[in-house]
Amino acid sequence: MSISLKIRNHFKTSLTTQQKQKLKKFQALKFRGLQGFIYQILFGSNLKVLSLIYNSDKWGTHWYAKHYETHLAHLRKKKLNILEIGIGGYKDPQDGGGSLRMWRTYFPKSRIFGIDIEDKSCHDERRIKTFKCSQVDDDALEKVLEEIGQIDIVIDDGSHINEHIIHTFKFLFPKLSENGIYVIEDLQTSYWQSFGGSSDNLNRSDTAMGFLKQLTDGLNYAEYRLKNYEPTYFDKNIVAIHFYHNIVFIQKGLNNEDSNILS
Ligand SMILES: C[S@@+](CC[C@H](N)C(=O)[O-])C[C@H]1O[C@@H](n2cnc3c(N)ncnc32)[C@H](O)[C@@H]1O
Repeated sequence: MSISLKIRNHFKTSLTTQQKQKLKKFQALKFRGLQGFIYQILFGSNLKVLSLIYNSDKWGTHWYAKHYETHLAHLRKKKLNILEIGIGGYKDPQDGGGSLRMWRTYFPKSRIFGIDIEDKSCHDERRIKTFKCSQVDDDALEKVLEEIGQIDIVIDDGSHINEHIIHTFKFLFPKLSENGIYVIEDLQTSYWQSFGGSSDNLNRSDTAMGFLKQLTDGLNYAEYRLKNYEPTYFDKNIVAIHFYHNIVFIQKGLNNEDSNILS
Protein backbone atom coordinates (compact mmCIF):
# COMPACT_ATOMS: atom_id res chain seq x y z
CA MET A 1 0.00 0.00 0.00
CA SER A 2 1.37 3.42 -0.92
CA ILE A 3 2.24 5.82 1.86
CA SER A 4 -0.40 8.36 0.76
CA LEU A 5 -3.10 5.68 0.85
CA LYS A 6 -1.94 4.65 4.32
CA ILE A 7 -2.21 8.26 5.55
CA ARG A 8 -5.65 8.62 3.99
CA ASN A 9 -6.89 5.41 5.58
CA HIS A 10 -5.46 6.49 8.92
CA PHE A 11 -7.43 9.76 8.77
CA LYS A 12 -10.55 8.00 7.59
CA THR A 13 -10.60 5.71 10.61
CA SER A 14 -9.15 7.91 13.35
CA LEU A 15 -11.02 11.20 12.87
CA THR A 16 -14.40 11.91 14.46
CA THR A 17 -17.28 12.93 12.21
CA GLN A 18 -16.97 16.49 13.45
CA GLN A 19 -13.23 16.57 12.70
CA LYS A 20 -13.88 15.12 9.24
CA GLN A 21 -16.42 17.86 8.56
CA LYS A 22 -13.96 20.54 9.69
CA LEU A 23 -11.26 19.08 7.46
CA LYS A 24 -13.64 18.94 4.52
CA LYS A 25 -14.58 22.59 5.04
CA PHE A 26 -10.92 23.62 5.36
CA GLN A 27 -10.04 21.80 2.14
CA ALA A 28 -13.05 23.30 0.40
CA LEU A 29 -12.21 26.83 1.49
CA LYS A 30 -8.54 26.45 0.60
CA PHE A 31 -9.23 25.42 -2.95
CA ARG A 32 -12.58 27.06 -3.68
CA GLY A 33 -11.06 30.41 -4.66
CA LEU A 34 -8.70 28.80 -7.16
CA GLN A 35 -11.40 26.41 -8.38
CA GLY A 36 -13.83 29.30 -8.93
CA PHE A 37 -11.21 31.16 -10.94
CA ILE A 38 -10.54 28.13 -13.17
CA TYR A 39 -14.26 27.40 -13.64
CA GLN A 40 -14.79 31.04 -14.56
CA ILE A 41 -12.14 30.89 -17.28
CA LEU A 42 -13.33 27.53 -18.66
CA PHE A 43 -17.12 27.68 -18.25
CA GLY A 44 -17.88 31.23 -17.03
CA SER A 45 -20.77 31.87 -19.41
CA ASN A 46 -22.18 28.33 -19.40
CA LEU A 47 -24.70 28.24 -16.57
CA LYS A 48 -25.72 24.64 -17.31
CA VAL A 49 -22.19 23.39 -16.71
CA LEU A 50 -21.73 25.67 -13.68
CA SER A 51 -24.97 24.38 -12.19
CA LEU A 52 -23.76 20.79 -12.52
CA ILE A 53 -20.29 21.58 -11.18
CA TYR A 54 -21.65 23.42 -8.15
CA ASN A 55 -24.35 20.85 -7.47
CA SER A 56 -27.25 23.26 -7.84
CA ASP A 57 -30.54 21.75 -9.00
CA LYS A 58 -31.03 24.39 -11.70
CA TRP A 59 -29.87 21.99 -14.42
CA GLY A 60 -30.42 18.23 -14.38
CA THR A 61 -33.15 18.11 -11.74
CA HIS A 62 -34.88 21.19 -13.13
CA TRP A 63 -34.20 22.73 -16.53
CA TYR A 64 -33.94 26.35 -15.47
CA ALA A 65 -30.34 27.18 -16.43
CA LYS A 66 -31.20 27.71 -20.12
CA HIS A 67 -33.89 30.25 -19.16
CA TYR A 68 -31.56 32.04 -16.79
CA GLU A 69 -29.07 32.31 -19.65
CA THR A 70 -31.74 33.79 -21.92
CA HIS A 71 -32.68 36.48 -19.38
CA LEU A 72 -29.45 37.16 -17.54
CA ALA A 73 -26.56 36.62 -20.00
CA HIS A 74 -26.51 40.31 -21.03
CA LEU A 75 -25.99 41.27 -17.36
CA ARG A 76 -23.12 38.86 -16.64
CA LYS A 77 -20.30 41.41 -16.57
CA LYS A 78 -22.27 44.04 -14.65
CA LYS A 79 -21.75 44.90 -10.99
CA LEU A 80 -25.02 43.79 -9.44
CA ASN A 81 -26.52 42.87 -6.11
CA ILE A 82 -28.18 39.48 -6.44
CA LEU A 83 -30.35 37.94 -3.72
CA GLU A 84 -31.35 34.29 -3.70
CA ILE A 85 -34.02 33.15 -1.23
CA GLY A 86 -33.24 29.57 -0.18
CA ILE A 87 -29.58 28.58 0.09
CA GLY A 88 -30.18 24.83 0.11
CA GLY A 89 -29.29 21.97 2.42
CA TYR A 90 -32.21 22.66 4.76
CA LYS A 91 -31.32 21.73 8.41
CA ASP A 92 -27.69 20.81 7.64
CA PRO A 93 -25.68 24.03 8.16
CA GLN A 94 -22.76 22.79 6.03
CA ASP A 95 -24.92 21.68 3.11
CA GLY A 96 -26.22 23.89 0.30
CA GLY A 97 -24.64 27.07 -1.01
CA GLY A 98 -24.04 25.56 -4.46
CA SER A 99 -26.20 28.04 -6.31
CA LEU A 100 -24.59 31.00 -4.50
CA ARG A 101 -21.16 29.86 -5.73
CA MET A 102 -22.60 29.17 -9.17
CA TRP A 103 -23.92 32.76 -9.37
CA ARG A 104 -20.61 34.15 -8.12
CA THR A 105 -18.77 32.44 -10.97
CA TYR A 106 -21.39 33.37 -13.57
CA PHE A 107 -21.46 37.05 -12.42
CA PRO A 108 -17.75 37.78 -11.85
CA LYS A 109 -18.31 41.38 -10.69
CA SER A 110 -21.47 40.99 -8.63
CA ARG A 111 -22.17 40.47 -4.95
CA ILE A 112 -24.28 37.42 -4.15
CA PHE A 113 -26.55 37.34 -1.11
CA GLY A 114 -28.56 34.43 0.22
CA ILE A 115 -31.23 34.13 2.88
CA ASP A 116 -32.42 30.93 4.51
CA ILE A 117 -34.39 30.05 7.64
CA GLU A 118 -31.39 27.97 8.68
CA ASP A 119 -27.94 29.33 9.58
CA LYS A 120 -25.85 29.02 6.44
CA SER A 121 -23.06 31.36 7.48
CA CYS A 122 -20.42 28.72 6.75
CA HIS A 123 -20.98 29.59 3.09
CA ASP A 124 -19.90 33.22 3.59
CA GLU A 125 -16.96 33.80 1.29
CA ARG A 126 -15.56 36.49 -0.95
CA ARG A 127 -18.55 38.21 -2.69
CA ILE A 128 -21.00 35.83 -0.94
CA LYS A 129 -22.95 36.81 2.19
CA THR A 130 -25.71 34.82 3.84
CA PHE A 131 -28.41 35.89 6.28
CA LYS A 132 -30.57 33.75 8.56
CA CYS A 133 -34.01 35.11 7.82
CA SER A 134 -37.40 33.86 6.76
CA GLN A 135 -38.73 35.12 3.46
CA VAL A 136 -41.95 36.19 5.21
CA ASP A 137 -40.33 38.07 8.09
CA ASP A 138 -40.63 41.65 6.80
CA ASP A 139 -38.64 43.24 9.64
CA ALA A 140 -35.75 40.83 9.17
CA LEU A 141 -35.90 41.31 5.39
CA GLU A 142 -35.82 45.07 5.86
CA LYS A 143 -32.63 44.74 7.92
CA VAL A 144 -31.08 42.52 5.24
CA LEU A 145 -31.91 45.14 2.62
CA GLU A 146 -30.37 47.88 4.75
CA GLU A 147 -27.13 45.92 4.72
CA ILE A 148 -27.22 44.96 1.03
CA GLY A 149 -28.47 48.21 -0.49
CA GLN A 150 -30.51 48.07 -3.67
CA ILE A 151 -31.09 44.64 -5.19
CA ASP A 152 -30.99 44.08 -8.95
CA ILE A 153 -32.06 40.44 -9.17
CA VAL A 154 -34.17 38.38 -6.75
CA ILE A 155 -34.49 34.61 -7.09
CA ASP A 156 -37.16 33.00 -4.94
CA ASP A 157 -36.14 29.37 -4.38
CA GLY A 158 -37.22 29.28 -0.74
CA SER A 159 -40.18 27.59 0.95
CA HIS A 160 -42.29 27.39 -2.25
CA ILE A 161 -45.40 27.86 -0.11
CA ASN A 162 -47.87 29.83 -2.21
CA GLU A 163 -48.68 32.35 0.50
CA HIS A 164 -44.95 32.94 1.06
CA ILE A 165 -44.20 33.37 -2.65
CA ILE A 166 -46.88 36.04 -3.01
CA HIS A 167 -46.04 37.78 0.28
CA THR A 168 -42.32 37.99 -0.52
CA PHE A 169 -42.99 39.23 -4.04
CA LYS A 170 -45.28 42.00 -2.77
CA PHE A 171 -42.65 43.03 -0.24
CA LEU A 172 -39.48 42.78 -2.34
CA PHE A 173 -40.57 43.71 -5.87
CA PRO A 174 -41.15 47.40 -5.04
CA LYS A 175 -37.67 47.49 -3.50
CA LEU A 176 -35.93 46.13 -6.63
CA SER A 177 -33.81 48.53 -8.69
CA GLU A 178 -35.43 50.32 -11.64
CA ASN A 179 -34.84 47.63 -14.24
CA GLY A 180 -34.55 44.73 -11.85
CA ILE A 181 -35.58 41.15 -12.49
CA TYR A 182 -37.61 38.98 -10.11
CA VAL A 183 -37.49 35.21 -10.62
CA ILE A 184 -39.69 32.60 -8.96
CA GLU A 185 -38.73 28.93 -9.23
CA ASP A 186 -40.74 25.74 -8.66
CA LEU A 187 -44.16 27.07 -9.56
CA GLN A 188 -45.44 23.48 -9.63
CA THR A 189 -46.45 24.00 -5.98
CA SER A 190 -49.09 26.39 -7.28
CA TYR A 191 -51.10 23.26 -8.12
CA TRP A 192 -50.32 21.34 -4.92
CA GLN A 193 -52.68 21.56 -1.97
CA SER A 194 -49.91 20.70 0.49
CA PHE A 195 -48.22 24.02 -0.41
CA GLY A 196 -51.46 26.00 -0.41
CA GLY A 197 -51.98 25.57 -4.15
CA SER A 198 -54.88 24.21 -6.17
CA SER A 199 -55.41 22.12 -9.29
CA ASP A 200 -59.19 22.59 -9.26
CA ASN A 201 -59.38 26.35 -9.56
CA LEU A 202 -56.50 27.61 -11.70
CA ASN A 203 -57.37 31.28 -11.27
CA ARG A 204 -57.41 31.49 -7.48
CA SER A 205 -55.51 34.67 -6.65
CA ASP A 206 -54.03 33.10 -3.51
CA THR A 207 -52.02 30.62 -5.59
CA ALA A 208 -48.72 31.75 -7.10
CA MET A 209 -49.81 31.11 -10.70
CA GLY A 210 -53.26 32.66 -10.15
CA PHE A 211 -51.60 35.78 -8.70
CA LEU A 212 -49.03 35.97 -11.51
CA LYS A 213 -51.70 35.53 -14.19
CA GLN A 214 -53.50 38.57 -12.79
CA LEU A 215 -50.27 40.57 -13.10
CA THR A 216 -50.19 39.80 -16.83
CA ASP A 217 -53.46 41.73 -17.31
CA GLY A 218 -51.80 44.66 -15.58
CA LEU A 219 -49.33 44.90 -18.50
CA ASN A 220 -52.31 46.18 -20.54
CA TYR A 221 -54.00 48.32 -17.89
CA ALA A 222 -53.88 51.31 -20.27
CA GLU A 223 -56.41 49.46 -22.43
CA TYR A 224 -58.98 48.88 -19.66
CA ARG A 225 -62.26 50.59 -20.50
CA LEU A 226 -63.10 51.27 -16.88
CA LYS A 227 -63.91 54.66 -15.43
CA ASN A 228 -61.72 55.73 -12.51
CA TYR A 229 -59.45 52.66 -12.64
CA GLU A 230 -56.45 53.37 -10.39
CA PRO A 231 -53.43 51.42 -11.71
CA THR A 232 -51.60 49.47 -9.02
CA TYR A 233 -47.86 49.65 -8.32
CA PHE A 234 -47.46 46.39 -10.23
CA ASP A 235 -49.50 47.68 -13.21
CA LYS A 236 -47.17 50.66 -13.47
CA ASN A 237 -43.85 48.93 -12.81
CA ILE A 238 -43.88 45.60 -14.67
CA VAL A 239 -42.98 45.62 -18.36
CA ALA A 240 -42.71 41.90 -19.11
CA ILE A 241 -43.56 38.54 -17.57
CA HIS A 242 -41.96 35.42 -19.06
CA PHE A 243 -43.42 32.06 -18.06
CA TYR A 244 -41.68 28.72 -18.62
CA HIS A 245 -42.25 25.29 -17.14
CA ASN A 246 -42.26 25.96 -13.35
CA ILE A 247 -40.34 29.25 -13.51
CA VAL A 248 -41.23 32.89 -14.17
CA PHE A 249 -39.12 35.99 -14.89
CA ILE A 250 -40.73 39.32 -14.05
CA GLN A 251 -39.08 42.36 -15.60
CA LYS A 252 -39.36 45.64 -13.73
CA GLY A 253 -39.58 48.93 -15.63
CA LEU A 254 -41.90 51.84 -16.29
CA ASN A 255 -45.08 50.56 -17.94
CA ASN A 256 -46.27 53.95 -19.13
CA GLU A 257 -47.10 53.48 -22.82
CA ASP A 258 -50.44 55.05 -23.73
CA SER A 259 -53.24 53.08 -25.33
CA ASN A 260 -53.06 53.17 -29.14
CA ILE A 261 -56.82 53.28 -29.49
CA LEU A 262 -58.16 56.78 -29.97
CA SER A 263 -61.71 56.44 -28.73
C1 LIG B 1 -34.69 24.14 -2.72
S1 LIG B 1 -33.64 24.64 -1.41
C2 LIG B 1 -32.70 25.92 -2.22
C3 LIG B 1 -31.74 25.39 -3.25
C4 LIG B 1 -30.74 26.39 -3.80
N1 LIG B 1 -31.33 27.66 -4.11
C5 LIG B 1 -30.09 25.83 -5.05
O1 LIG B 1 -30.45 26.19 -6.19
O2 LIG B 1 -29.19 24.99 -4.88
C6 LIG B 1 -34.76 25.52 -0.40
C7 LIG B 1 -34.13 26.19 0.83
O3 LIG B 1 -35.10 27.14 1.31
C8 LIG B 1 -35.02 27.22 2.70
N2 LIG B 1 -36.29 27.75 3.23
C9 LIG B 1 -37.43 27.07 3.56
N3 LIG B 1 -38.36 27.92 4.03
C10 LIG B 1 -37.81 29.16 3.99
C11 LIG B 1 -38.28 30.46 4.36
N4 LIG B 1 -39.49 30.65 4.87
N5 LIG B 1 -37.44 31.52 4.19
C12 LIG B 1 -36.19 31.34 3.68
N6 LIG B 1 -35.70 30.13 3.32
C13 LIG B 1 -36.49 29.07 3.47
C14 LIG B 1 -34.70 25.79 3.14
O4 LIG B 1 -34.08 25.77 4.41
C15 LIG B 1 -33.81 25.29 2.00
O5 LIG B 1 -32.44 25.36 2.36
